[in-house]
Amino acid sequence: MGLVPMVQLLQQAEAGGYAVGAFNCNNMEIVQAVAAAAEAEKAPVIMQASQGAIKYAGLDYIAALARTAAAAVNVPVALHLDHGTSFEQVMRCLRAGFTSVMIDGSRLPLAENIALTRQVVAAARAVGVSVEAELGKIGGTEDDIHVADADALFTDPDEAGQFVRETGVDALAVAIGTAHGRYRGEPQLDFDRLAAIRARVQIPIVLHGSSGVPDEDIREAIRLGVRKVNIDTNIREAFVERCRAVLAGNPEEIDPRKVLGPAREAAVEVIREKIRLFGSAGKA
Ligand code: G3H
Ligand code: 13P
Ligand code: ZN
Repeated sequence: MGLVPMVQLLQQAEAGGYAVGAFNCNNMEIVQAVAAAAEAEKAPVIMQASQGAIKYAGLDYIAALARTAAAAVNVPVALHLDHGTSFEQVMRCLRAGFTSVMIDGSRLPLAENIALTRQVVAAARAVGVSVEAELGKIGGTEDDIHVADADALFTDPDEAGQFVRETGVDALAVAIGTAHGRYRGEPQLDFDRLAAIRARVQIPIVLHGSSGVPDEDIREAIRLGVRKVNIDTNIREAFVERCRAVLAGNPEEIDPRKVLGPAREAAVEVIREKIRLFGSAGKA
């Protein structure tokens, strides 16, 4: 089918009241797993490349893999830059054929985040590429977030309204209590805050750090306006645990295909489950 702009998928999700899965891709097997899962579930899907993935696989390799996968399936696929660090990196992604970029200015003061995001929106829009930005700080599970700090770190609903008005961004990542990586305890999502953001922001909302968030919380977040759900850690777990199991069962194995093939299957299974949970199955 070929790669499509992400905004198209999110607008349809908005109209249908579901969310599109955005799955982090680090190697060929995971790209293939995302494509196979999306096709099996007849679902639109987003493949995304993190900073670590770009370092590991290379931007052009990831773009070529995603393009090949998208052309091979009959469902719409968007290719997205995850947590883009600079205007220059966004430019490299536009040249490589990404159909969506995230510019993550969340560590900057509000005015600087707005200025950087505006610059990216102007350039990306000129070539039909979607833009996601972030407001508030989404922690890593290593950052121990205490409730007292939550107000300083979480997205402020009024600022979110101002940010979207002043940047013209297509999708907004918010900090409402999720974190990247494995959770130590149960995550506590601030749904009141999400509802307040939703009341002030008319564009699709993005949930990061969604691995390990209970299914009912994911459903509630989607009910409150989340239209893109990011999953990385759950894929890594499924993939590596299957590698471990295969090697434990046959410590003499030396054929990478005998290890990575089953790992790819494990990734397909977890991605299919997520697609069904997000309500995007059958929406392609
Ligand atoms: O952005 C969040 C990713 O799950 C972590 O990415 O370790 O591949 O950079 P990375
Ligand atoms: P998890 O690894 O917690 O699923 O987060 C993924 C993510 O938000 C990528 O941007
Ligand atoms: Zn993220």
